[in-house]
Amino acid sequence: MRDVSDAPDTSATPDRPSEVTVEPWWLDAIFYQVYPRSFADSDGDGVGDLTGVENMLGYLELLGVNALWLSPVMRSPMADHGYDVSDPRDIDPLFGDLAAMDSLVAAAHARGMKVTMDLVPNHTSIEHRWFREALASPPGSPERERYFFRDGRGPDGSEPPNNWPSIFGGPAWTRVTEPDGSPGQWYLHIFAPEQPDLNWDDPDVVADLHATLRFWLDRGIDGFRIDVAHGMAKPAGLPDHDWSDNELLHNTDDDPRFDNPEVHEIHRGIRKVLDEYPEAMTVGEIWVRDNERFGEYIRPDELHLGFNFRLAEAPFAADDVRAAIEQSLAAVAQVGGTPTWTLSNHDVEREVTRYGGGAVGRDRARAMLLVELALPGAVFLYNGAELGLPNVDLPDDALQDPVWERSGRTERGRDGCRVPLPWKGTEPPYGFTTGQPWLPMPDDWAPLTVEAQLEDVTSTLSLYRSAIELRANRPEFAGPEVDWYGSPAGCFAFRRREGGLTCVLNATSGPIMLPPGTLLLSSSPVVEGQLPPDSAAWLI
Ligand code: NOJ
Repeated sequence: MRDVSDAPDTSATPDRPSEVTVEPWWLDAIFYQVYPRSFADSDGDGVGDLTGVENMLGYLELLGVNALWLSPVMRSPMADHGYDVSDPRDIDPLFGDLAAMDSLVAAAHARGMKVTMDLVPNHTSIEHRWFREALASPPGSPERERYFFRDGRGPDGSEPPNNWPSIFGGPAWTRVTEPDGSPGQWYLHIFAPEQPDLNWDDPDVVADLHATLRFWLDRGIDGFRIDVAHGMAKPAGLPDHDWSDNELLHNTDDDPRFDNPEVHEIHRGIRKVLDEYPEAMTVGEIWVRDNERFGEYIRPDELHLGFNFRLAEAPFAADDVRAAIEQSLAAVAQVGGTPTWTLSNHDVEREVTRYGGGAVGRDRARAMLLVELALPGAVFLYNGAELGLPNVDLPDDALQDPVWERSGRTERGRDGCRVPLPWKGTEPPYGFTTGQPWLPMPDDWAPLTVEAQLEDVTSTLSLYRSAIELRANRPEFAGPEVDWYGSPAGCFAFRRREGGLTCVLNATSGPIMLPPGTLLLSSSPVVEGQLPPDSAAWLI
């Protein structure tokens, strides 16, 4: 049995400006990501919808979250489940209509919850009016200028214009047939062929996104998650690259498809529009590992927040988690920004499974929730994490993620973390729908339903509720600074400098003695001052 020493080790604490004059609502908000297909279905078609979300607002209020982030609900042929938008200023009939959106926003606001939406400005759907116009227009036309149309290489132009792969597998280029029937140019798509990349040097593209921002902000939307926020600018000449380190669904910092300096001008333009609505915010999807380059996205005239994925990428090991936290704090400290924390989303394996699955994975995920919520900044929870849902191994014929086909059926894709939420009852579809859920739901999820967990004080849902409530109401969570304490190997302890909350993580395989203090909450029962393995505790 080892002791967590209380000798502070403040050497790694990043500097942050201590004067905060205005406190925007998002500074320490808990955002709840609704993956609309999978949250709640109100009309029995097996796919979740906006009325389903509105019907469950009472649950979200009980959970205690401050804001919703809705993954895309705009018009889309759903080649990538809404991340292929054909009309950014309308709701897809699968999810409802504008009236359903207005109703959801009003109902959420009435309960004191903000509503933020996903925006997909890097690409459109091939069904977008602009892309159809581009296909019907000749090479060199203004219609093609809104995208990246290029002649192919080789004597007959039959090879792609450069050697870029798509993030989903296969080449990032698709050849079109010209209006006269001849084999034609190629267009760029960093993701699926159904998601042609927009050319942000074209003024139409800029003006249209600004119109979209105002359209939703005028309807009462409180902010946006910006998809592929680090990828909207492409390098001049679209140069070839050495892809030997390339991994499907991931990019490195020297990847020419992402993090080109011109992207910052785009974000400054977005910010100017947002500044007309002083309460509104943006959070960008930024897969950039270098801290300095990450920080550039949240300079005061760019995005309000940037997703830092380090915590979601860290294995369950004290040193790795501590390094992820320190790096995330350092990345924003240099620009006086707000840290963000996320353990999972619709693109990554659920944390219970990532940390080992079964009871161990669940215990570790519970511990990591307490670590995440003990930190200063904004938190993003992915729907179903509060139920401790694991990833699901789906049969081949159920898979829908474009990654599955694009990778030649070598990568199973992201469907396993997108299985609908179990609400009640003892068998599929557990109250999610009155029809057939769009992905099959496991037979053994009865103990994981909202209904089963709500009244059980030991459930993961109850842990989430208690932790969120404490974080919202206790003064010990105040202030942006974090001090680290000396701890035995495999453990860590940090303390909020201003408020005084201490968070201890035990990632070893044996119990540890907690340091002195009053126990506020723990992810597993503390007996005689001992914190069990795979657990975390909050002390004051
Ligand atoms: C990131 C989104 O999170 C992901 O789900 C989507 O497939 C790609 N961007 C393309 O829009």
